Amino acid sequence: MTSRFRLAWLVGSLAMAGCGGSFNPGPLQYEESEALTRELADKTKANLAGKPKLQEGVRKGLAKLFGPNPQEIRVPPGSGLPAGGRQLANLIATGEGPEARPKQIYVLRTSATGQPPIKERQAGGYALYRRHCLHCHGVSGAGNGPTADFLYPRPRDYRPGKFKFTSTPNGAKPTRDDLRRTIRDGLHGTSMPAFDSLMADTEIEQVLDYAIFLSMRGETELGLIDEASIADENDPEALSDDVLDSVLKNVINKWKSVETQVFNPPVARTPATRQSILRGRDLFLGHKSRKGNSVDCVGCHGPQALGNGVSFVSQDVFNEVVFGGDPSLQEARLQNHRKEIREQWKNSLDDWGNPLRPNNLNRGVFKGGRRPLDLYWRIAKGITGAKMPGHYPTLEADEVWDVVNFVLALPYEPKLLEGAVPANVTPAPAKPAVAQR
Ligand code: HEC
Ligand code: HEC
Repeated sequence: MTSRFRLAWLVGSLAMAGCGGSFNPGPLQYEESEALTRELADKTKANLAGKPKLQEGVRKGLAKLFGPNPQEIRVPPGSGLPAGGRQLANLIATGEGPEARPKQIYVLRTSATGQPPIKERQAGGYALYRRHCLHCHGVSGAGNGPTADFLYPRPRDYRPGKFKFTSTPNGAKPTRDDLRRTIRDGLHGTSMPAFDSLMADTEIEQVLDYAIFLSMRGETELGLIDEASIADENDPEALSDDVLDSVLKNVINKWKSVETQVFNPPVARTPATRQSILRGRDLFLGHKSRKGNSVDCVGCHGPQALGNGVSFVSQDVFNEVVFGGDPSLQEARLQNHRKEIREQWKNSLDDWGNPLRPNNLNRGVFKGGRRPLDLYWRIAKGITGAKMPGHYPTLEADEVWDVVNFVLALPYEPKLLEGAVPANVTPAPAKPAVAQR
């Protein structure tokens, strides 16, 4: 172990304070990515013998960079996490190897009446994550905690390193501000709770660090699996320290560089006048703007913005498969549907492989927040991993604001789309000629 790794060796808490249940599964272990087996052990693939050495190499490399289990957190140097990641844990190791001793971390809380500050044990990000997030997002952040199977939409799998509700360009990481908003305010209309009143500001920062830690770990795991899958099983350098380092740096740099990539609207919001709302409606319907620009919202969101556009599988098939009771029957149900519905179903999944539905814009419930700026971000740069594309610069910034004004007005004015005709509707086919006798 090199000294830079030793320095950053942290020990997480075993205590699960606040959880009174008697169910104790013992020390938690990370679960491996399914890709480790799929890519490296699957004997039906090109590599007929599988790659057991490289598979082990990925496990070891990951443990070297991030620690072997959630109780022994190791934060890679240069992670960019505040305080070098120390806030992830409430115990920190002092000393080396067998000599290492876990030491409790304390914080000083100032008391009101001029009394000396009170020394309090700190619950680290990992302890907070265990208490508040793990049952949905899972030990490794794979979105597969014990509650996850009962939820639609499913909790986010952090490991691919993709996040939906960001202020940054499509595909880029979220900023800390974006994640903070998600954790504080929750994602409206989903089971992702708002933690604003449950946690102190400092605790929210810590749990946020831990979510980033899991995401970095998961994306590094996928990167190492990629390296191993193209390498020769007997190449001793295939997963050398240099390779580990470059895979890791690639992930970390994406997190570091994003803070300067916030996608700010280049012009101030257009006031929500009648004209602006109607211009937004026409753009929604696919009509050309005065500047000759046009977009297609209807194909996905439907002509009445009910979330039932033709690009997605129909609502009844969706309901049947997603909410149809016994999950093991879902696949079978899908198999029984016609071929074109099965094809369409594939296009109704998000990048995590979960069933996806365009938002019903009449309800006025927006996962990523209902501030005009939130909607600007969603419409201008799209929703990463969720098929919704960015519409800037196809639309100019003031035109995006018109659409935002329309989207905000619609729930209060359901008549806005009554009898509206989308631009690309092909006229109903002419009546068939009366058959000749
Ligand atoms: C009851 C289940 C539940 C709990 C508890 C929960 N989440 Fe979530 N979380 C979700 C769901 C569901 C989504 C995804 C919603 C979607 O994709 O529409 C999500 C998404 C997220 C995202 C992704 C946001 C994005 O932009 O893609 C983050 C980050 C997140 N949660 C963090 C946390 C943290 C941190 C905690 C604990 C403090 C937590 N969650 C607790 C259910 C939960
Ligand atoms: C290719 C399909 C597609 C197109 C085109 C599309 N959307 Fe979406 N949109 C979606 C999907 C899918 C979601 C739901 C994503 C999710 O919940 O993860 C969504 C969600 C939204 C949301 C809700 C965001 C939130 O925070 O919950 C708004 C608002 C929205 N779309 C507006 C629009 C507008 C306006 C247009 C046209 C300018 C448009 N969309 C074009 C597929 C699309």
